[in-house]
Amino acid sequence: MKIGIDAIAMDTPDFYVDLVTLAKVRGDDPDKYTIGIGQDEQAVPPSSQDIVTMGANAASQLVTPAIRASIGMVLVGTESGVDASKSAALFIHQLLDLPEWVRAVELKEACYGGTAALMMARDYVAGHPDKSVLVIAADIARYGLATAGEVTQGAGAVAMIVKAEPRLITIEPDSVYRSTSINDFWRPIYQDTAIAQGKYSTEQYLAFFQAVWDRYQEENKLTADNFAGMTFHLPYTKMGKKALDLALPKAEPQTVKRLKERFDASTRYCRRIGNIYTGSLYLGLLSLLDHDATLQAGDRIGLFSYGSGAVAEFFSGILQPGFSDQLQSAVHARQLDERQQLTVPAYEALFSDKVPYDPEDYRPDPAYFRGQFVLTGVVGQERLYEKRPAHASNATQQLD
Ligand code: COA
Repeated sequence: MKIGIDAIAMDTPDFYVDLVTLAKVRGDDPDKYTIGIGQDEQAVPPSSQDIVTMGANAASQLVTPAIRASIGMVLVGTESGVDASKSAALFIHQLLDLPEWVRAVELKEACYGGTAALMMARDYVAGHPDKSVLVIAADIARYGLATAGEVTQGAGAVAMIVKAEPRLITIEPDSVYRSTSINDFWRPIYQDTAIAQGKYSTEQYLAFFQAVWDRYQEENKLTADNFAGMTFHLPYTKMGKKALDLALPKAEPQTVKRLKERFDASTRYCRRIGNIYTGSLYLGLLSLLDHDATLQAGDRIGLFSYGSGAVAEFFSGILQPGFSDQLQSAVHARQLDERQQLTVPAYEALFSDKVPYDPEDYRPDPAYFRGQFVLTGVVGQERLYEKRPAHASNATQQLD
């Protein structure tokens, strides 16, 4: 039985900051951001958007009556949880009015949580072939204003339906994974910005890639030449490029050309959205599928997942007949093009207006309400979410 991703959708905030503009304000050479690190724009979430609202916005595009009837689990991979106890999956379950006879759980392991959810979904479908699983990978990457990591911030969610006989791409039973406890990146529970040992984390990402890639080739008797494309966890696009370079030394010249071109296609959304941690690899997969019209059914795509701390996994998927019918490239292009650009002071104000880490009531600014689902407040320490009427969620209100 084939098992894999039947459908995929994304969501990202309706606001962004231009990184050339930000570089100039920070006194940096813009080429460092756009070439050295490989990022052009950065999604900026207002405090009314969190992993629950973005996850629900992405997932709502996939929950058809047939999926609703077959759904067995709702899994959310995230490292931006909104509660230390209750899972984001339950908030999303309620916002989407999903059936009660499901498991709804949140999984955490830095940027690897989405892959953990995907693999758990795959195993569940193997045992329950008539069931589907809603997998959501959602995060807000925050390093802090004027920090080294600022240029790599971002926000967004990717939702996927995992089921038997998928229409998009299989998840092949060829995974190689590795876990070792290291301190390259973490976030203490009392703060919303990550602590990153920048250079060490990039070294570890590459060392983990090399280790799982070598073992993958050995165990599966495959090489880079067997891949139509490779996608990577992208904390920033240059990081993935360095990993791809490690896979190419023994490849045929046409393989090198093909994998480099398709890598560029896989980075287009990341360049405009930034790091979305757990969702980043799947945003890369979606970007590749949306931007490369030469891919064909039967093509093998490699996926490298890395979560600091650290867990890494390399696996592959095979594109299925008619896979391109499942894509919404034009919708995604419009969604990104219609975002509103923020000035740097406006971005800094939004970044600083956040749900506080204390028990006081808090209300996000309604001027920034966008999309179908919003956080309207935290009152009496309870988070309040709202599904907005279609006419309100479609309105593109201009701010001063
Ligand atoms: N023009 C073109 N490239 C330039 C440049 C310029 N004017 N100035 C610098 N660069 C290049 C550097 O050569 C370097 O490229 P390289 O990595 O290929 O050598 C790159 O831009 C970054 O420069 P660097 O001085 O290393 O940047 P930094 O000290 O500000 O740190 C990160 C960059 C990514 C480490 C930092 O943003 C960070 O800590 N990010 C968060 C952690 C993270 O994402 N880890 C990833 C693993 S999960």
